[in-house]
Amino acid sequence: MSLVKKEVLSQFAQDTIEGLGSHPKTISSKYFYDTEGDKIFQQIMAMPEYYLTRSEFEIFEHQGKEIATTMTKGSENFNLIEFGAGDGYKTKLLLQQLLNTGVGFTYYPVDISKNILQELEKELKAEFPQLEVSPLNLDYFEALKTLSKLNTNKNITLFLGSNIGNFHDHEARQFLDQFKHQCRPGDRLLLGVDLKKDPRIITLAYDDPHGITAAFNLNLLKRMNRELGAHFQLDNFSHHTFYEPISGEVFSYLVSLKEQNVSFDTLDLPISFEAYEMIHTEISKKYSIRELDVMASDLGFAVQKHFTDTNHYFVDSLWEIKA
Ligand code: AVJ
Repeated sequence: MSLVKKEVLSQFAQDTIEGLGSHPKTISSKYFYDTEGDKIFQQIMAMPEYYLTRSEFEIFEHQGKEIATTMTKGSENFNLIEFGAGDGYKTKLLLQQLLNTGVGFTYYPVDISKNILQELEKELKAEFPQLEVSPLNLDYFEALKTLSKLNTNKNITLFLGSNIGNFHDHEARQFLDQFKHQCRPGDRLLLGVDLKKDPRIITLAYDDPHGITAAFNLNLLKRMNRELGAHFQLDNFSHHTFYEPISGEVFSYLVSLKEQNVSFDTLDLPISFEAYEMIHTEISKKYSIRELDVMASDLGFAVQKHFTDTNHYFVDSLWEIKA
């Protein structure tokens, strides 16, 4: 089939064609984060229902000092790497505590958004003039490869905000296993994970009454309109999510509210939707502490400590690669 008009297509275009051509239709959650999506995500983090950011912030506020000393114990100079650094709102608390330990380190924020990295670097230079910052505009594993050629320092990696939750269990394991193979025994990982809790609390966090999460999800359609010349009519779609408490996964969808065809300037044929056909857009997986212990041990990590907030909503779990 020759659906495609243009010869050279962006990754987003290729993934969209593939995802909307599958059954069920899917689009990867990584495409949420364009400039507009970044802004809506900041609004999500500020909503009362989205407890994740506040919970992790509380952990760093109350236990940042202990996290910093435990994380750096036995290390001299180290590489502090952060996967998906974002706006650095929570990390700044930790950076201050790490600077207070007096152990030397360079901070390597890794992000695929150049834009966000430049802003973060500017802010950090102003707020922490003594901090050495070296942004890496690379894919996570490329960043680790680059660092292993640069120096032999111990790596301490931050993967915060429950970003690991965008993976299914087997994908998370694969990701952490690959991570381990790019590091050395003794290297550490601080993993921020949303915990299983009362399903009603989780459900509200992803289906808020303000419609902010809906706007975040629908921005995917807007982005296709903007970047791929798609002709989605936003009021013909709605946001739907549900929490499945056994796997711990929140599933998010865009629902086609009627039978419709959507044309793309970049495609010969329109994409057709049945009434109530779904586009699966995201999973946000929650874990129990016990599940994390099992995963760490299966993968060859030793859990050094679980740092949780007072509500036990969230955990920052410190892991070390076993010899
Ligand atoms: C940034 C992936 C952690 O899954 O909770 C927020 C993204 N999606 N509301 C999450 C998100 C809907 C968020 N992560």
